[in-house]
Amino acid sequence: MQNAIKLSPETVVAISGASSGIGAALAERLAMGGVRLALCARRRERLSHVAARARSLGAEVLEVVADVSVEEEATDFIERTLDTYNGRLDVLIANAGRGHCAAVEDTPSEQLYSMFAVNVFQLWYLVRPALPVMRAQQRGHIVAISSIAGKIAYPYNAAYTAAKHAVVGFIAALRTELVETGVEATVVCPAGVETEWASATEGMPIGDLFADGIARSRTIARERGIPRAPLQRMMSAADVAQKIISVIESPPGADVFTHDGSEELVAMALASRRSYEQAMLPLLLGMRQSYEERR
Ligand SMILES: NC(=O)c1ccc[n+]([C@@H]2O[C@H](COP(=O)([O-])OP(=O)(O)OC[C@H]3O[C@@H](n4cnc5c(N)ncnc54)[C@H](OP(=O)(O)O)[C@@H]3O)[C@@H](O)[C@H]2O)c1
Repeated sequence: MQNAIKLSPETVVAISGASSGIGAALAERLAMGGVRLALCARRRERLSHVAARARSLGAEVLEVVADVSVEEEATDFIERTLDTYNGRLDVLIANAGRGHCAAVEDTPSEQLYSMFAVNVFQLWYLVRPALPVMRAQQRGHIVAISSIAGKIAYPYNAAYTAAKHAVVGFIAALRTELVETGVEATVVCPAGVETEWASATEGMPIGDLFADGIARSRTIARERGIPRAPLQRMMSAADVAQKIISVIESPPGADVFTHDGSEELVAMALASRRSYEQAMLPLLLGMRQSYEERR
């Protein structure tokens, strides 16, 4: 398999956003397989807890408290990783991310900046110092966690959606610079995952808006005599982490969808935005009702 990385006790994997959710699940799964880890996040205690669990599974772990939306802190994370592991870095998983919840006209500029800083700018801050090392090794894999919102859209989080589309674009562009270098880059686009993400959004908690919008969408579909909106099943962070690990072990050379049904939805939206909106109509109207009552 081209540019596959065989995970071994020498392999060094750096993960941003490792204090909860997908990042924490990745740390645990990778520790079970036996690799050397570098983990970062802002919440010190939560990060220490994840690091302690990974150590208890036999992994060597560097933990760095860092806000990856701040260039110096993100760069420092990669530099400390290289210092700790004798200049080696095999896999970088840019996973840290945060959402928001606001209509386009209600989104303050600070929210725009923070959505792009954490979800997009971290990619440059982390990848710039990592890439020369991977190029010299002629081996490496940069994995960026985007979202299904990097391909299609749901309402009331346009800044996050635009930022996650930018993550897809970043990896597409990076890949064109990496041909025949031995270094791989992949974007992973999960749909709903059972983590803290949906309750930790800036502005309103988007999970509540979705849950209420879905409940209302059933009534709307029944009243209008139209099909329910196609919704994907939530996945556990552990299952998503396992898919990400399989991407490292067998790079697909394609954007990765973790959830059943995602590819079909994306294809529908690419072929016709109107068709996508028609299919989603009960949910879009249900979320609008809910948002208007909450704003
Ligand atoms: N859950 C979903 O439904 C879903 C769906 C599609 C895509 N995603 C994406 O998956 C990734 C992981 O999210 P999750 O679902 O695992 O949510 P989560 O449990 O909220 O985890 C997010 C992680 O990112 C870290 N983080 C946030 N801002 C950071 C910053 N400025 N600097 C460093 N670390 C930061 C958080 O740690 P601290 O707060 O301690 O810094 C935490 O470890 C994100 O990129 C998210 O957008 C999630």
